Formats: sequence, structure tokens, C-alpha cells
Amino acid sequence: MSIIIKTQQDVEYMRISCKLAAEVLDYIAPYVKPGVTTNELDKLCHEYIVDVQKAYPSPLQYKPSPKNPPYPKSICTSVNNEICHGVPSDRVLKDGDIVNIDITVYKNGYHGDTSRMFYLGQVSPHAKRLCEITYNSMWYGILQVKPSNTLGDIGNAIQKYVESNGYSVVQEYCGHGIGKVFHEDELQVLHYGKPKTGATLLPGMIFTIEPMINQGKRHVRFLSDGWTAVTKDRTLSAQWEHTILVTNTGYEVLTLSPNMPNPPAFIKSLTT
Ligand code: MF3
Ligand code: CO
Ligand code: CO
Repeated sequence: MSIIIKTQQDVEYMRISCKLAAEVLDYIAPYVKPGVTTNELDKLCHEYIVDVQKAYPSPLQYKPSPKNPPYPKSICTSVNNEICHGVPSDRVLKDGDIVNIDITVYKNGYHGDTSRMFYLGQVSPHAKRLCEITYNSMWYGILQVKPSNTLGDIGNAIQKYVESNGYSVVQEYCGHGIGKVFHEDELQVLHYGKPKTGATLLPGMIFTIEPMINQGKRHVRFLSDGWTAVTKDRTLSAQWEHTILVTNTGYEVLTLSPNMPNPPAFIKSLTT
């Protein structure tokens, strides 16, 4: 199987699904306050996606391989030392926590996928710095997206920037082709690598860039719930995610919403 190139029709539908996913993050932002449980955030997002957006939360009952139990919730909430796929629970978010909320929405037969970091109350400067460096690293990856560049160019840009700032890149998870299928096996976007290696980007490819960055070492430990990944050394981890279309001239960020955080100053446009 080879990498899927989307048609103009696919792209139109992807713009819709991706916008819906980003709008869920806008919707949930005011509720992400000390005292809320991750289950409450899950329920609010679920109801918004189903009742308001008339869509389906892609994670719910998702089972990518026989090793995974079906995912039991509608969103992922990864707190502090959790790297990704944190499962909502009765855990109460408290002042000083950082949390990644990852939303995937299925509408008209297409998935849109995006995540952001949120600060709970007063967050330490070192936690903020981790979140900011991770955010910038995603955008350095996005800047590499143009026809004739390679997947390795994206991974390398992210890894160079992250490591020069003293952090490490998680290697167990990657960005992915996305469309009618949540995770397209044929297209894996590593967040590390060497320039001019890997598949060459072509107009019509759609994939996520979603670096997971650890404050300490890159190594991962898996919790017995079959989903949650945490840092082995218990240091903090951060992640941001956008879904990106390769255009004839560069990139188009698909997961846009009115209240999305501003891109860093080195990003001049959301489409190039
Ligand atoms: N949204 C995640 C990603 O970015 C995948 C979540 S799968 C789940 O690829 F089952 F854990 F929800
Ligand atoms: Co995601
Ligand atoms: Co993703």
C-alpha cells in the first residue's frame, strides 16, 4: 500500500472535520480550571461533538490493534508526566498542572485531529517553557512541509530544535496520515530523523504533526490500562498537534479555529 493522495473532494471534507476538532478545543478551554476532573472534560466534549456538531468522537471504542482494549472515552487528557493517550478519569486537575487535550472528530466519513496544552492556574516557569518549546517545535516541523521536501526534513527540524533546548523527542509515537482512516499505516511522520530521508512530500497528502517532548529522557513506560504512556523518569511531557495538507506550494493548516493560540512569530501565514 502506498501513501494516500487526497482528492479535492476529500480536502473539502477534511477542512470541515479538522475545523470541528479545533472548535472543540476552543469550546473546552474555559472549563479547564483547577478542580475539574478529566471525566467532566470528557463528558462536556462528548456532548458538544455529538449534540452540537452532530459528529462522532473518533477515540471512543477505537481499537487500533489486538493489543489495545477499545478506548473507553471520547478524548485524551494527558497530565504532567503523561506523554499521550491519558484516559479521562475522576482525577481532579489542580493548580500548577499542565494537560494536553487531544480531540479527534469524525464527520461525513473523515477524521480531523488536533491537540493543545492547557495550564491549570499558576504553572511553574519550567513547565511553561516545556510547553512553549514543544509548540514551536511543531511549527518548525510544519515549516518544512512543501512538495519535494521529505518526511525526514520534518522530523529533523523538530529534533534539532528540541534537543538544542535540552529536551528529548519521544520515539514510540508519530504523526500519521489521516482522512477516511484515523491512522493511515502507510504514512508515519516521525518527529526525529535525518534531512532528505523518508518519503517525499506530494500535494494532496494530509497528515498530523504532533511532537511529544519530554523534559528529561525520551523513554516511555506504559500503564496497565493499555493506553496511557508516561515518562519513564517521571519528568514532564508536552504535546501539540495540527493536521496539515501539503499544497502545491507548501502547507495549509487544517485544524483552525477562532481561538486557537497564535503561531510563533517565525510563522508568517497559516497557508503558503
Ligand atoms: N488523537 C490521537 C492521535 O493524535 C490518537 C488517540 S487514539 C485513542 O493520534 F484511542 F487513544 F484515543
Ligand atoms: Co490527536
Ligand atoms: Co494524531
